[in-house]
Amino acid sequence: MSHLIAPSILSGDFANLATDIEMLNQSDADWIHVDIMDGVFVPNISFGFPVMEAIKKYTSKPLDVHLMIIKPERYISRFKEAGASNLIVHIEACVHLNSTIQSIKQEGMRASVALNPHTAVNNLEDIIFDIDQVLIMAVNPGFGGQNFIEHTYRKIDKVRNLIEKTGSKTRIEVDGGVDLLNASKLIKVGADILVAGSAVFGSKNPFETIAALKKA
Ligand code: DX5
Ligand code: ZN
Repeated sequence: MSHLIAPSILSGDFANLATDIEMLNQSDADWIHVDIMDGVFVPNISFGFPVMEAIKKYTSKPLDVHLMIIKPERYISRFKEAGASNLIVHIEACVHLNSTIQSIKQEGMRASVALNPHTAVNNLEDIIFDIDQVLIMAVNPGFGGQNFIEHTYRKIDKVRNLIEKTGSKTRIEVDGGVDLLNASKLIKVGADILVAGSAVFGSKNPFETIAALKKA
């Protein structure tokens, strides 16, 4: 299966969301990546349910919802109601990760676990079987437009080895600093899903950039 592209709406124009969503609807984007930040887990606040519900109203593309919040287990059913297809929680934010993952699946969403740049891949050993996706952060979460951390390639390779060793079906997603220069190398080392914010919305022609990322 070819890789998936999930543009991050965080880099979109919030005064003209409907226009950006309509562009994504027409584009090769597979999912729309939605970044939720609480100002506690990360040093920034993005947006919450009203904005997410507005996004959902304008698209039938699956919403890939990245929770950069503490205690995400408090809001699992609320995110389902707001239109999430995939729910991504940070391993660093979950005390009872297994239970949180089970709750996400019981709500009928795909369950994903995100790893900050400093979090070692071996933390996934006892959860890899239970999750649909792993999100490897290639920047410190909190802001769009940051520089890609080069060590990410080695991390993806380690996750790919773990998946192969255990025979799990988990897909690898990469988030942060993804652009047209590193996309093909990321796919080569084993990424299945690319998130891109500023590389898409900061480009002259976001629609064409998505098409180019899809062909990478
Ligand atoms: C960062 C977010 C990312 C961000 C990516 O904390 O999780 O999804 O929107 O933006 P770029 O692609 O600009 O790094
Ligand atoms: Zn994200």
